[in-house]
Amino acid sequence: MSADILLEVRGLRTVFDTRAGQVCAVDGVDVTVNRGECLGIVGESGSGKSVTFASVMGLVRVPGRIEAGEIVFDGIDLRKLSAKKMQAMRGRDIAMTMQDALTALNPALTVGEQLAEMLAAHADDLPPGRMARRAAIRARAIEMLTRVGIPSAGERLGQYPHEFSGGMRQRIMIALALAAKPRLLIADEPTTALDVTIQAQVLELISALRAEFGMSVVLITHDLGVVAQHCDRVMVMYAGQVVEEGPTAQVIRQPRHPYTQGLLASIPRPARRGQPIRPIQGQVPELVNLPPQCRFLERCPLADDACRHPIDMRPAGPERRARCIRITTPDIEKGLSHDI
Ligand SMILES: Nc1ncnc2c1ncn2[C@@H]1O[C@H](COP(=O)(O)OP(=O)(O)OP(=O)(O)O)[C@@H](O)[C@H]1O
Ligand code: SF4
Ligand SMILES: [Mg+2]
Repeated sequence: MSADILLEVRGLRTVFDTRAGQVCAVDGVDVTVNRGECLGIVGESGSGKSVTFASVMGLVRVPGRIEAGEIVFDGIDLRKLSAKKMQAMRGRDIAMTMQDALTALNPALTVGEQLAEMLAAHADDLPPGRMARRAAIRARAIEMLTRVGIPSAGERLGQYPHEFSGGMRQRIMIALALAAKPRLLIADEPTTALDVTIQAQVLELISALRAEFGMSVVLITHDLGVVAQHCDRVMVMYAGQVVEEGPTAQVIRQPRHPYTQGLLASIPRPARRGQPIRPIQGQVPELVNLPPQCRFLERCPLADDACRHPIDMRPAGPERRARCIRITTPDIEKGLSHDI
């Protein structure tokens, strides 16, 4: 493993046993996160973004299980760690903010108590002595809440999660995740519930802390504009697989996979005012008993019989890969050119 790599996932396969059969939510996913970088993860709803990173965190619960794959964080094989050691790593080394802030926060503890618990367990630069330590924790908790844009933070420490709005809860969860200064922050749709100004504020905070602490970030989002602005590299997921990855600017300017091209064509942009937005036709396939063929076949404008077998990721330029047999054909070369 190269010294620059913080997280390396190889061949991850996570399944859910359901009445309809085995749902293969993540099927052979590889992820590399370098130290200090921001990796964006995009893809339609149900493509396996959250399950991939819940697997990394060791948070997949019955009826789900990791069936195969390696998850190595800073040289440590996470799948071989005891539940206790994994628990200690969560929060301190890797933190994840969940899509659903209400279920992720503890309803029985005040926001101040939850932040204090996190800081007491993981902050290693607190002063000695009980009183000084308590004062430092309180000051740090107020600072974190203020930095995520919660006004009158000192007064709100004594309130419970249900006393905050959805957007506020999202911000509290981000403050909690950042409190321990983890080496890797996985932010799952961190700004979906927030208004535009607060969105920008939260993303700026994440970027600032990334620079301040050399933290790596995985940003899961539907918003390609956010990816364009904040992520060094991007990984596009479709139906449980990675279909394209590479440096953000290149992927956005010249997407190689027809699915990525479709995603980009479906966003409204001022530069294309007056032109129709073209949503991708059709739907993501059910992840049960998938036929052995390209998963995008039913929706792909370039599909033909050659696509009726499983397709591997293949090189698509320097530092780029995509899962499509047509990568080097003129059809895709001419592709679409995008500026976000
Ligand atoms: N508890 C569960 N039981 C059965 N299937 C599940 C369960 N959780 C997830 N899945 C399956 O895994 C698939 C991937 O889910 P995941 O939450 O990772 O998607 P996502 O890409 O994060 O979507 P979104 O953008 O909506 O958050 C889902 O389509 C669903 O079929
Ligand atoms: S392999 Fe075929 S069906 Fe799949 S994305 Fe490429 S052209 Fe489309
Ligand atoms: Mg999700």
